Amino acid sequence: MKITLFSVAVSACSVFAVDVPKAEPFGKMPDGTEIQAFTLTNKNGIKLRAITYGAIVLSLETPDRNGKLADIVLGYNTLEEYIKDTPYFGAVVGRYGNRIAGGKFSLDGTTYTLATNNEPGGMKCSLHGGLKGFDKVVWHGEGLVKNGVQSVKFSYTSKDGEEGFPGTVELSVIYQLTDDNQWRIDYEAKTDKASPLNVTQHSYFNLKGEGNGDILEHELVFKASRFTPVNAGLIPTGELRAVTNTPFDFTTAHRIGERVKGDDEQIRFGGGYDHNWVLDSQDGSLALAAIVTEPSSGRTMEVLTTEPGLQFYCGNFLDGKLMGKSGKAYQFRNGFCLETQHYPDSPNQPSFPSTILRPGKTWTSTTVYRFGAK
Ligand code: BGC
Repeated sequence: MKITLFSVAVSACSVFAVDVPKAEPFGKMPDGTEIQAFTLTNKNGIKLRAITYGAIVLSLETPDRNGKLADIVLGYNTLEEYIKDTPYFGAVVGRYGNRIAGGKFSLDGTTYTLATNNEPGGMKCSLHGGLKGFDKVVWHGEGLVKNGVQSVKFSYTSKDGEEGFPGTVELSVIYQLTDDNQWRIDYEAKTDKASPLNVTQHSYFNLKGEGNGDILEHELVFKASRFTPVNAGLIPTGELRAVTNTPFDFTTAHRIGERVKGDDEQIRFGGGYDHNWVLDSQDGSLALAAIVTEPSSGRTMEVLTTEPGLQFYCGNFLDGKLMGKSGKAYQFRNGFCLETQHYPDSPNQPSFPSTILRPGKTWTSTTVYRFGAK
């Protein structure tokens, strides 16, 4: 009897034992630095693969309504392609994700000038941290088991003056893949001088599977009754506008394609959706922000965040020039991003929630992408 109990205990252990994800080589930087990949798997077979370059998520496999796995994020097969040209596929962006008007801001009486790397509507701005943002640097990677599930922690020190930003910022991001099908992202940062900080994840999703055409049939619900309208340079005007009676109203389910081709001025400025929604939950708790449903596969994705804003970008700048990992070119609107964040250009918009991190404070932020099928 004793022996039987013992063997039951041993086999239960081996069924539930969770291995620490191992670092595997994923190519080398031009200076010889080795890039590592980590693969996280949960008990339902969902699989996420991420690398130390840009904390980029290379692939994310989730089941459809028949249990068939597909990779639902856009990206490449090789490091070289990520280094050469990417519209931030799968990366963590910062120090300031999204735009800063004119690449300038003032903080505590000093004006800071950043490189401008983007010019929508002929108006220059700093986009996603500048010329070499967090998406283009090598992070330190460590596989771990956190809360009993496979996880990876990426850490990066952004030096004082990097890309024109003040203060040395110590940043980490942990990806966990939970057994209830959540990709959970926890960010943490500290600085030694006051600096703007707005860090987000820039995965492009296509719940039909990457390489399977456009995303126009996906249905969206946003827990947001306002958005931040922009000027032609995609910089918020400062207004928080009600979504009622506009193509920005996703308080009830609408397909992405339903109103994206209309003549609305905001849609014209963005070339489609490329805007920040003001989430109804503004208290910093982890709250539901978006529900996405893809009717043909049945895949669903919920987004929860502690952040006050959600940038919805529907791949308006994809134009067929980039070849995806399954050998298919990524065409116009073949993927969409739901970037949880503070509002664009907050350092220049005193009425927006502050993005300034000060010495002695720890910045934390959590976002969850939760996967299902129906
Ligand atoms: C922005 C787009 C930009 C894209 C770059 C998105 O986060 O909202 O305007 O073109 O990133 O790939």
